[in-house]
Amino acid sequence: MTYGHDTTTDEVLDGIDLSGRRALVTGASSGLGTETVRALAAKGCAVTFTARDLDKGQAVVDQVRAATGNDDVEMMSLELASMADVRRFADEYLARHSQMDMLINNAGIMACPQGTTQDGFELQFGTNHLGHFLMTVLIAPALLAADSSRIVALSSRAHHRSPMRFDDPWFSDGSYEKWTAYGQSKTANILFAVELQRRLAGQGVEAFAVHPGVIITELGRHLTEDDIAAATAAAPGGVLRTKTYEAGAATSVYAATAAELAGRGGCYLEDCGIAEVDETSSEHGVRPYALDTDSAERLWAMSVDLVGADLPG
Ligand SMILES: NC(=O)c1ccc[n+]([C@@H]2O[C@H](COP(=O)([O-])OP(=O)(O)OC[C@H]3O[C@@H](n4cnc5c(N)ncnc54)[C@H](OP(=O)(O)O)[C@@H]3O)[C@@H](O)[C@H]2O)c1
Repeated sequence: MTYGHDTTTDEVLDGIDLSGRRALVTGASSGLGTETVRALAAKGCAVTFTARDLDKGQAVVDQVRAATGNDDVEMMSLELASMADVRRFADEYLARHSQMDMLINNAGIMACPQGTTQDGFELQFGTNHLGHFLMTVLIAPALLAADSSRIVALSSRAHHRSPMRFDDPWFSDGSYEKWTAYGQSKTANILFAVELQRRLAGQGVEAFAVHPGVIITELGRHLTEDDIAAATAAAPGGVLRTKTYEAGAATSVYAATAAELAGRGGCYLEDCGIAEVDETSSEHGVRPYALDTDSAERLWAMSVDLVGADLPG
């Protein structure tokens, strides 16, 4: 089957048996995370997912168990905007599970008003990148315990909006712009996958970054009418080409499971395929600055300094 824009989770996972495998999906109380959990559970995978709103999360547990007949689906509380809570989560996760085959760093916020995490980091960079960075390095022993495992970083085509602003990631010069901040955080997600790949590939762990497509979810909670009008006007023919949730989560589960991606870690995927490097298109591709190995190494060192943790050993 040829994969593309409208390929769904079930099509990607057709013929794949995930029984005996374990996944962790962050931010699955809504949107793409919920569909990712459902699709993996439907193939027999044991899935842990995280939520902040525990009532919302419990509804997802009930819904996925009922839809798939898989009872090995659990929710754990996680607030990525608190380094203390990320550390608590990692301790609790490792106490429950010593091995994990797939980590899908899916949680995210987009284009919010200027704010800071509980540790004082710019809110989008702090949540989307630093929270996932800390969690990933802390639970890496579980990934390393598997014969082979994968890490999937949900990025976005919005990474086109900004490279890493190493000179002022915090917008401390007063120039905060919500899309630039989102773009920087999504570039950081790709650079994180690039450097994870370099550091872990020899140990059986591969990392991928993903653009899921354009899907109408709760991610748009901060969008104004003007934002939506601008995005529509910028789309080809003035029409936003959106995806269903099933197609939106397909590239994540493809990154986590596709046999043909073995040995291809460190790349950026869209529409269930490896994206081309592109310097100008607003419609597809990955910017060279997001795959730059020097920037990836620099972001890693900066992140270690900020969160006070690194990979084991
Ligand atoms: N939808 C799109 O068109 C699109 C396009 C490109 C990339 N993406 C990326 O895809 C991923 C999933 O987005 P989505 O569209 O499914 O959005 P969504 O429905 O808003 O889901 C985001 C999830 O992240 C969780 N989350 C937010 N802040 C968190 C925090 N501080 N700590 C822990 N969890 C937190 C949310 O929990 P709460 O319910 O508690 O807020 C929610 O479960 C994101 O990384 C996003 O950047 C989406």
